[in-house]
Amino acid sequence: MSRPHLSQTQTPPLSELLMQHRPGHALPQPFYTSPEIFEADIEAFFYRDWLYAFPACLLDKAGSYQRIRMGAYDVIVLRDAQGAIRAFHNSCRHRGSIICSAAQGRVAKLTCPYHQWTYDLDGRLLWARDMGSDFDPSKHGLKPVHCRDLAGLVYICLAPEAPDFDRFAETVTPYLAVHDLSNAKVAHQSTIIENGNWKLVWENNRECYHCAGNHPDLCRTYPEDPTISGVSADGVFPEKVEYHFNRLEGLGAPSRFRLDEAGQFRVARMPLLDGAQSYTISGKIAVRKRLGQVPVLDAGTLLLFNYPTTWNHFLSDHSITFRVTPIGPQQTEVQTTWLVHKDAVEGVDYDLKDLTVVWEHTNDEDRRVVEDNQQGINSPAYEPGPYSASHEDGVIQFVDWYLGRMRARHLPSSLAAE
Ligand code: FES
Ligand SMILES: [Fe+2]
Repeated sequence: MSRPHLSQTQTPPLSELLMQHRPGHALPQPFYTSPEIFEADIEAFFYRDWLYAFPACLLDKAGSYQRIRMGAYDVIVLRDAQGAIRAFHNSCRHRGSIICSAAQGRVAKLTCPYHQWTYDLDGRLLWARDMGSDFDPSKHGLKPVHCRDLAGLVYICLAPEAPDFDRFAETVTPYLAVHDLSNAKVAHQSTIIENGNWKLVWENNRECYHCAGNHPDLCRTYPEDPTISGVSADGVFPEKVEYHFNRLEGLGAPSRFRLDEAGQFRVARMPLLDGAQSYTISGKIAVRKRLGQVPVLDAGTLLLFNYPTTWNHFLSDHSITFRVTPIGPQQTEVQTTWLVHKDAVEGVDYDLKDLTVVWEHTNDEDRRVVEDNQQGINSPAYEPGPYSASHEDGVIQFVDWYLGRMRARHLPSSLAAE
């Protein structure tokens, strides 16, 4: 008997694949492997949507900047002399050199290293040597990128015309208010590469079906109950969760579950396991000088996801943001940032290991399951299997959201609504 040959058969066109998906099932293999679909994803989502960048407190002074890469784009996000956050394409208006080569830093002006054209922090070209009398500097300012500061979280958008941000901002701002991120500092940041498609990173994030078997530290405090992680397809929550919403809302901390009508974001303050206060091995708070004015220590976790780049946990003592950046069809960067009160002192108010160990372990465990998932999908024997309707409703919601956008873009309108 001859061995089955392992060469890939030709990938069917995207439109065909979009019609092939069986509702309630994982996606066909090319959605996780094909360079063409990866490029289509970048175009449809990452070049179009608002993208979480980093916490605003990283830009603590005028001239502080962070560089963000997304696909072919390279962006400088900075704080200007008036204190506003602005973003520009990192491409000089002379011959296109990058201007900032470091990942972050602080500058008085933006000076291109090639021929020293010099830009103000508001993007205006201030100085260009010997360009002749008919040269107009006002026509050669840095190209701006859309940029918003949402209660201390910086978002950018690469699209020429940004989609609406206000609906998201208006929904989420009241929930974030008690976390007071404007008084935060970064206690720790980790950046890992997961050898898996960005959608696998999200699918894994959107369920806790895998938690008991993979996250021993997280499971000390985080419930695997699917009504906590999921999207409550029926809008009903167990009595315990309803009690938690009512209790925290009564104490002035908006908590009730909200899912965006387009399915792009969800916010809800969910209870942790009985007696747990924060993501530590002991379950007690990690930071004595707490970030925000959350009314009780056992307020649980304010869960916020916003596709396609961020999920977050805002706790009674600290906050954690996560940023997803697709690198290639089978490579995704996940950056995690731990925020504490700006006056909290390491070694006095918190121990860094105690603060970070649960999510350092959880991230590494998630990296492993995502990479194993990708490797199994790469086999010609892979066949999309069914999601658990009760445990994986969040994954079904993500995949449906993804397919809805892709069908609207790549199928004729008569088929796109299927
Ligand atoms: S390319 Fe920037 S100054 Fe020439
Ligand atoms: Fe996980």
